[in-house]
Amino acid sequence: MAFPNAFIDELIARNPIEDVVGQYVSLKRSGGNLFGLCPFHGEKTASFSVSPDKGIYYCFGCHKGGGAVNFMMEIEGLSYPDAVRALAKRAGMEVPEDEQYQSRYRRQERLWALHKEAARFFHSCLYAPVGKAALDYALGRGMPKSTLTTFGIGYAPDSWTALVDAMRKKGYTDQELKDSGLVTESRKNGSLFDRFRDRLMFPIIDVRGNVIGFGGRIMKNDPGTAKYLNSPETLIFNKRKNLFALNLAKKSKLGYLILVEGYMDAIALHQYGFDCAVASLGTALTEDGAVLLSRYTDQVVLIYDGDQAGQNATKRAIPILEKAGLQVKVLQMRDAKDPDEYLKKFGAERFRQLLEESSNRVEYQLGAIYRKYDIGQDDQRVKYLQECADLISTLPGAVQREVYGGRVAEIAKISADAMKLEISRAYKRRQYQNKKKQEKIDLSPQRTHQPRSRDIRYDNMRSAMAEEAVIAMVLKQPELLEHTRKLEGEKFSSPLLGKVYTQLSQRYRQGLEVSAGVLAELSGEEMSHITGICQRQQAAPSEEALQDCIRTIEQENDRGKVSSAEDLLALRNKMKESKGLKG
Ligand code: CTP
Ligand code: MN
Repeated sequence: MAFPNAFIDELIARNPIEDVVGQYVSLKRSGGNLFGLCPFHGEKTASFSVSPDKGIYYCFGCHKGGGAVNFMMEIEGLSYPDAVRALAKRAGMEVPEDEQYQSRYRRQERLWALHKEAARFFHSCLYAPVGKAALDYALGRGMPKSTLTTFGIGYAPDSWTALVDAMRKKGYTDQELKDSGLVTESRKNGSLFDRFRDRLMFPIIDVRGNVIGFGGRIMKNDPGTAKYLNSPETLIFNKRKNLFALNLAKKSKLGYLILVEGYMDAIALHQYGFDCAVASLGTALTEDGAVLLSRYTDQVVLIYDGDQAGQNATKRAIPILEKAGLQVKVLQMRDAKDPDEYLKKFGAERFRQLLEESSNRVEYQLGAIYRKYDIGQDDQRVKYLQECADLISTLPGAVQREVYGGRVAEIAKISADAMKLEISRAYKRRQYQNKKKQEKIDLSPQRTHQPRSRDIRYDNMRSAMAEEAVIAMVLKQPELLEHTRKLEGEKFSSPLLGKVYTQLSQRYRQGLEVSAGVLAELSGEEMSHITGICQRQQAAPSEEALQDCIRTIEQENDRGKVSSAEDLLALRNKMKESKGLKG
């Protein structure tokens, strides 16, 4: 997929990196650069930098970097062409025609439209005679019509082809129906039939408001049938990267988000005024899910079911959320198995109290440790204290450590001083371990230059270092490309660096912009690696240094050549010849 270079240049020029990033990250100027909290990994100190001059961003923490297009790809999860399109839209530019791209985008748009039609169809079935039992079920579970409307809840009739027929009538092709995942193909004769039959349908809507999939619930619990059936992964549906009801919750004024396990829980919470509730899509919370949440809030209340599975899921979700920079509180369900049941039993007011009492993650985790041991027994009490000390020693604030340490000491009936000692021991142990880890990284300097991704690892380190220097120099001072006319990208030992060099030198010779921000056809990882090089290489560009590098690249390239068997043979013949001549 290639856009014309001139178009990309204009696109970059009209989308200054600081403006594009600034839509997502609040940036503070410091010298020539801007800094902020990295949106790609959780952090508390700003290691994310934006360089308006170079048109790039780079995170010193997670080493992600790139230009405006990469930023959009990374943060919105877009493909390269989609990111270009988003930026074009932002700048009010028209995107040049391209067959391949147009076709993919058209296919996506058709699937969005198809899903919207399907949602309408299911919703109308809920109010048709076929939907009577489903409507009764929904109302019986305490969902008023307003809720059914807000969430677009529907009913998939008990038929093999109700949806297939309805969508064909709307002009959708069999291919589109298959691509949507809402329809399956019979293995016997290839005919199409509905995936969802006789189920209450919950549309899954992304943050941009597109219906991208469905969850369907049976109405009579039956051990032989899965209670929920969800859309499969499709061109427009990725269950790891979306959350149920986030399209509504992102508009909430409550200032935090509630994460629950079930669709029904999220819906009940909205209904009772907690319009900030979202649910994961039949999977455990993923890192992508947490990063998505962190775009709309910095505080999440976890409310998973009270059973063991829910507790385990809570334990797993906490570090994932914290890694995304979120503050986590945990609400423990009591006297009800989940929020849906709780609200119906006790009402919104009692729930609000529960919410206020919900503990931060430290309290929650200390509670979980407490429940693990019987502290009436000495050996278990020791284990309890050690585990608590381990946890408390990870807290950044001295006051926090003091407070929680004191509390644990009281529970286990030991002195606060003894507990303090235990915590500081745990702290030192951790520091020692961290230091050891650090040393391990520092001990291999070569490693630090190797690209992180295996796919782009360097085979020839000597040449690669020279190649990196060439790239860094010409990015800093594009005029140097005047002196590289005889250097070809093919001579580079690293295909990635060769590709980048070729693009840059072609651009220079066409009189176009030369900067990291305009590089095309690179993956996120590749782009991060290139921006990393620019940040690392401090050597002042000069013609001399450049010629040195070129010499190295050519030498290594020649050496590389003779290592292939054929060349070796040719070389040997040549040597024989010359010997023969001498002799
Ligand atoms: N889930 C699923 N497939 C199943 C069971 C559950 O995908 N066979 C997912 C659904 O996303 C569901 C969530 O796991 O919403 C939580 O399951 P559960 O608590 O059983 O469902 P609820 O939404 O609470 O539904 P209900 O109260 O109607 O049982
Ligand atoms: Mn439930």
